[in-house]
This record gives sequence, structure tokens and C-alpha cells, in this order.
Amino acid sequence: MLYQEKHRPQLHFTPKENWINDPNGLVYYEGEYHLFYQYNPHGNDHANMNWGHATSKDLYHWEEHGVALAPDELGTIFSGSAVADKNNTSGLFESDSGGLVAIFTHDGASQQQSIAYSEDKGRTWIKYEGNPVIPNTEIKDFRDPKVSWHEESKQWVMVLACGDHIQFYSSPNLIDWTYLSSFGKEYPSYIGVWECPDLLYLPVEDSSKKEWVLIVSINADGPNGGSAVYYFTGSFDGKEFHPNETPKDELKWADAGKDFYAAVSWDNTKDTYWIGWMNNWQYAGVVPVSPWRSAMSLARKLSLFEKDGSLLLKQEAIIADNSKEEVSYKDVTIQPDETESYEISNTAQVDLQISKTSNSTKWGVQFVTDQGEAFRLVIDKQSDAYTFYRNEGIIDFSEDFPEEVKGSLNGLDVQALKAIVDKSSVELFLNDGLTVSTNLIYPKGAVTKLEIFAVNEALKVDNVSWTNLHSIWK
Ligand code: FRU
Repeated sequence: MLYQEKHRPQLHFTPKENWINDPNGLVYYEGEYHLFYQYNPHGNDHANMNWGHATSKDLYHWEEHGVALAPDELGTIFSGSAVADKNNTSGLFESDSGGLVAIFTHDGASQQQSIAYSEDKGRTWIKYEGNPVIPNTEIKDFRDPKVSWHEESKQWVMVLACGDHIQFYSSPNLIDWTYLSSFGKEYPSYIGVWECPDLLYLPVEDSSKKEWVLIVSINADGPNGGSAVYYFTGSFDGKEFHPNETPKDELKWADAGKDFYAAVSWDNTKDTYWIGWMNNWQYAGVVPVSPWRSAMSLARKLSLFEKDGSLLLKQEAIIADNSKEEVSYKDVTIQPDETESYEISNTAQVDLQISKTSNSTKWGVQFVTDQGEAFRLVIDKQSDAYTFYRNEGIIDFSEDFPEEVKGSLNGLDVQALKAIVDKSSVELFLNDGLTVSTNLIYPKGAVTKLEIFAVNEALKVDNVSWTNLHSIWK
């Protein structure tokens, strides 16, 4: 049986061995979702960056294929994207039906943008002989090109991270790029650099509208310390991005947990899906796992939700498990300061869902292991915040790790909670994914109990249910 090491995720993509970080080159093509990623084929630390490769038919079960792009005389292979060049706009393919083109950063004496193409569904790649296609302009941090087709202006558009701002470029053929505009210098970047941008065009729930969203990953000074992903909503006219938010507004975090970074979306899909690296640069190099390090989040479907005139990102986890093992309890009332405890199988990965009817101000859940460790979520409507406690288990590998991870409820009463607990992570989705927090945990034992507790007032729950999810590796 594969992947049985302690803390080895059973629901999340990990490589068989060695280091990974950012997801790269996400593209759907001829029945497969491609997941490339920053990969060190020679060890368990961040070095020798290659692109590793995996594919999936359902965004949930993955097959690993090994190295796709390896370093060359221009440098190692940093993050980037891939597109389906279905009309052979690049002219790189013999057939008019084109193929896959990857756009990535060469990290050498300087950072420059290069391309490669694949005629065999991403299994092998030919680097373009005229690389780099965007040479360096003396900007130190100049990387992570994310390319998509802009239908209105009928051109390819690239968003590129440049330290404290984003640059936009356009191209008719993925080879010749024209600088369009810059965005963001006046917006807060604090002490970190901007990385891994993405430009999304998302449907607004309960309307026929679609709106533009600019995604930015920032390394350092996230809401709970370290790296994190934030976003701007606004408009994009094929040349410039105009944000709805002003530089004085509070930043909108896509995931306020400690362990969701460098998230980008799949190209060439009808709906929009993305995935993030489930780690934080503060301690990514020392998380206590081997021979792999580390995991991707679950893939998530994206949309927007309008609240009080402001647009919020909404994320729905993709779980393609046909398990029928759902356990469900209806109409549960938990008295003030009491706890309702449910035993679950100790081999399980669990998808827990709670919907509540009472207007409780403070309540929560905890995941308890057979060694008595508790990982607790407290929801506090009064302070419009939640806190996830992960001060248990193995925490001594980094002083930045054992945080109380806090997040905002965005003024929403939490009616629905979904928690996906895997061997070494908890992904929390509040109110159907309007508030998300992804966090690593390293319990010494196995989670065997789910507990729901009420604080000060009774908690009325109309449904508690959970599903024991199968390992994706069996
Ligand atoms: C983000 C990042 C990218 C870079 C890559 C290097 O996590 O720093 O900006 O391309 O990782 O591995």
C-alpha cells in the first residue's frame, strides 16, 4: 500500500518523495487536469527547482509523472502557468489544433520569462529556442507569469509579480510580449514581496454578472504571520486593472489560515478551480515530514458573493469520493457549556458538516486524538472572529508554527461549517466557503473524536454529519 507514513496526507496531493512548493502550469486539456509544481528531484528542501508533474481526471485523485521541466543554462525553473493553445497561435505546433504551452520564470543570474511547449499532453516538453521571451529589466523579483486568453481583446494576457507591484503584458502568440500596465505600488505590501498573481473572471452568485479578481500571494506579513494570499476585485479592460478597493481598505484574504499559498487557477475550464500549496514559508523547510515535503490543498471551485456592496471570494472544496458512509444526526441541542462528542473511526479522514439554527454567539468544534490532543475552532460572533488552536501535537520544529490562527467572519453569522480533516491538515469552510482557513497540524495520535460545544447559551444544530473519506492513493 502506498503512502502510509505518519502524517502523510490521504486526501491531498503529495509527491512520492522530495520537496514541492507552488502549484504551476495548471491547465485542463483533453480530459486531464494537469498539476505541475515546484519540485526538487534531489531532496527534501527548497533547491534545484524543476517542474514536477501530476494529472487527474477529477481534481481529486492524482497520478504522479515525474520531472517535466528541468534547469538549463538560463537557470532553474521557477513558478509559472500553462495554457491550451488550441488554435496554434504560437505556431509552435505542426497541427492547427495546437497543444500545451508553459510560461515560466527562469531563475538564473536574473529572473526572466521563458516558454516551452508539449505535443504529447504535457508528458515531454521542448523549450523554445528563443528564450527568454521577456528578458530581465533589472527588477530583482520578476517572476511567476500567469497567462490566460482575454476574449474581449482577443489576446493572451500575462500577469507578472514584480516585488511590490504587478505588471500586465499582452501577446498574440505567447512569444512576443508587449508591456501594458502596472498595478499596485500604492497598495500595501508591508515587508513582503508579491508573488504568484492570477487574474480571474468569476461569476457573482445569484446574478448573471461576472467580475474580475486579481489574486496576489504575499510572502511575509500574512494575517497570521508569514505567507498568504489576498485579492482585489475590480475591472480589467484588456490593458489595465482598476480595483474596487482603495489602498486604505482592509486587505481581503482568500484564506486566512497559515497554510495556503501561491494559489492559482486552471486554464481552459468552464468553471474556475484553483489549488494552493499547503504550507507557509516561515517553516516550510522544517515541517516534520519525510520523505516528501509538503502537500497541496484540496482543489476548490471559485465564485463571488455580494455582501453589502462588496464582493467576497467563495470557495467550495472538490471532494470526488463516492463514500456512502455518511453518519448524520438531526436536531441536536447542546446545553450551555456542554460538549457533544462523537466517536469516529481512527483510520478515517473526515469531511464534517454542521448546520445550526440557533443564533448562538459563541460555539465551536474540536478534533480530538486518541492521545487526548485537541485541535479546536472557536467561533465568536460578538468579536466577528474565529480562532483555530493548534497548540497540540508536534509543534517544536518552529516557533512560528504553534499559532492561534485567527480570522474574520466578515460580519456573517456562521450557519454552516465544513471541516475536512486529513492526517496533517484541517481545512475550514465557514458559510459555504465565504470564510476559509487552512492549517497544518501534526498530531501524535489519530483523530478519533469530533466534538461540538456551546458557550454561555444553548446551541441548536439541525444537522451534524460526517463522511469517512477513502484514501485517494489506494
Ligand atoms: C512562491 C515562490 C515564487 C517562486 C517560487 C520558487 O512561493 O517564491 O515566487 O517562483 O516560489 O520556488
